[in-house]
Order: sequence, then C-alpha cells, then structure tokens
Amino acid sequence: MMLERLDRLPDDPILGLMAAFRADPDASKVDLGVGVYRNDRGETPVVGAVRQAEEAVLARQASKTYVAPAGNAGFNQAMEKLVLGEGHPVLTAGRVRTIQGPGGSGALRLGAELIRAASPQAIVHVPTPTWANHIPLLSGNGLELAQYPYFDGATGSVNFNEMHAALDKLPARSVVVLHASCHNPTGADLTDAQWRELLPVFQKRGLLPFIDMAYQGLGTGVAEDAYGLRLFAEGLPELLIASSCSKNFGLYRERTGSLHVVNENKTAADAVLSQLVRIARRIYSMPPDHGAAIVLEILSSEVLTRSWTEELTGMRKRIQGLREELVKRLAAAYPDKDFSYITRQKGMFSYLGVDTAQVRALREKHHVYMTDDSRINIAGLRAENIGYFADAVAKVLRG
Ligand code: LMR
Repeated sequence: MMLERLDRLPDDPILGLMAAFRADPDASKVDLGVGVYRNDRGETPVVGAVRQAEEAVLARQASKTYVAPAGNAGFNQAMEKLVLGEGHPVLTAGRVRTIQGPGGSGALRLGAELIRAASPQAIVHVPTPTWANHIPLLSGNGLELAQYPYFDGATGSVNFNEMHAALDKLPARSVVVLHASCHNPTGADLTDAQWRELLPVFQKRGLLPFIDMAYQGLGTGVAEDAYGLRLFAEGLPELLIASSCSKNFGLYRERTGSLHVVNENKTAADAVLSQLVRIARRIYSMPPDHGAAIVLEILSSEVLTRSWTEELTGMRKRIQGLREELVKRLAAAYPDKDFSYITRQKGMFSYLGVDTAQVRALREKHHVYMTDDSRINIAGLRAENIGYFADAVAKVLRG
C-alpha cells in the first residue's frame, strides 16, 4: 500500500471557512470569509454582461476542439489592453507576452515556474501579510520565499518607510511580489506617490516585480487600480503580472486569468512565451476556454463593456458605502476603538484587528465567519446584518 501513508491535512484557511459556514444552521450567520462579492441580498449573481456574452458565445460555438496551451489569443490581447491600458509603450514595442492561465492562481503558478526556469536560486519576497495562498502557489515548486514589511496595524496603512528600506537592501534579481490594488488581506494600498518612490529602488537594485492584480476595478477604478503596474511596466526592463477575472467579471468558477510578462526585447519575449507554453503543457496542457471566451466577447463589444463597467462600478460603490456604514456602526457599538482606517482601505478586505480567540468567539458565539487573522470580506455585509455584526464585535471586544 502506498497512498494509505498519507496524513489527513488541515482544511485550507480560507476555503475551509466556506464549508464551515455552509454547515452552520443558524439563521443569523454572517459570512465574511472567502473573497467573493455579494449584493445586498447576500447573493453573487452572474454579471449581466457575462450572461449576455455567454449566450452569444454558446450560440456561435460550433466546436469544442482544443484551443492552445497559451489559451485564447483574442482574450490574451484584450487582457493586455485592460491591464496595461491601450497603447502602453511596452505593448507598442512588442515587449509583452501573455498566456491565459487557469484563474489568477494559475497565472501566479505559471509565473513561479517561469522564475524557477530562469533562476532556481531566486528568492521571492512577499509582503507581510499577504494572501495566504501566495505562499504555496509561489514556493510550492521549490522557490525560496522571504517576507518584507508591509502593513502597519497601528495606522491601518502601509508601513512605507520600513517597506522602502527593506526593498532597498535586496540583492539584484530578487523577485518582489506586489499587490496592484485592494491588498489582500489588509485593504491597505500604496498611494500613487509611493509607487513613484519605489520605482527607482527597483531600477537601481535590479529587482524583478511580480504584480498580482486580482481586483482590478474594485478599488478606485479600472485604470486607477493599474496605476502602479503601468508605471513599473514603463520604467523597468522586466516585469510579471498575474491578472484575475474572478472578482471583477464574477467568473470565479470559470477559472479565468492571465500572466503578462514584460521583457527587455522581442527576442527575450519570444523565448519567455515558448517557456510558458512548455510549462503549461507539462502541468495542465491547456486552460479552460469558457470564461476567456466570455471576457473576450465583453471586451470586444462597446455595449457589453459599458454594461460591465457600470456593474463593476456598482460593486465598488456598494463596498465603499459598506465601509462607511460599518465604521459608523462600530463607532456607535464600541467607541473605545478607532475603526476609521476601514474607510481609507480599498477593495473587499480589511482587518478587524481582533485576536484569534476573539475571531473564534465571533464564530462560535455569534456565527460570524472570518479568517483567523480577522480579515473580513466587507462585501459579505448588508443592511440586514451590519448592525448585528457591529454589536457582535463590540460584545467580543468587551469580553
Ligand atoms: C480570498 O482571498 O478569499 C479569495 O482570493 C479566494 C481564495 O481563493 O482564497
């Protein structure tokens, strides 16, 4: 027997919560766990433009034959424009190569494999904290991982001085993972000025940024959320970007994402693409097509793009409104703690700033679900449960 030797592993810290929430029969339960957008009825409906695009794609689709290891070429091009902005100098110079990945996570893993192929000794530096799944995705292939300081719990914002100082000490060819916007798990983003201040550090020290953009459009806007990565793409010879369509297009289960690699020149770019195609072929051969076909359909139609942008704007505004409402409710329920940092943060997540025992008490006594580090998915709140949640937090904080 061979497989019987395997140990039973603990549940994934984020996905395990999904199952625990579903199994809880309590009517007042509140799900602030997994990062999925929800509307004011607590639902995650199919985005209108996605529904329309999907119908058009299915009506036209005459075959299910293979596409290609790099995925749908039209989707890859459309994503380059969405991520980097139409007419970006690296696009016009032909320095970008894109491969469709199975979701943003797949794109991250493709990037990690590319880095390992180029430099097995490379050290990948992630912010403290970072998305829990960054760690296994980026180091599961044997790459060494290190951390750099990022979040300041006292102010709820980026500890820029420490971050800057740490990056300014890294040796050349260190890989630095940055979140484009809507930092997961803290919601604390770099300002435009801070991105501008960091660029010379990357230039001077020869660092390779690997930028994860999982929430484009859910922070400040589609272009605004890409400000830093567009700036870095312009100012650096090489750059990796993993992009996800899970949240902004609501395509979670369709596993739709892309890896964009900015290269020093076209020859290097072609070599990189050939490597990526080989990597994909060896892991899963080809990515799923359905979500990519939908995104391409939307981005090639002005009408559907407008409809998608409007719905995305609605999601973003709802989250911003919830942030304000939550801070008011928490201030009323528990005036001793200042939660105002929550309104300054962006995207789906913020830290509540309570300890693990308090997180457990919220789950066990009040049926409120969040990850053990007290990350809350703001989009899981709604008019009906926001007061209940604030009161539960106050009760737990009072002990
Ligand atoms: C999250 O952070 O909750 C999401 O990105 C979903 C996931 O796969 O972890």
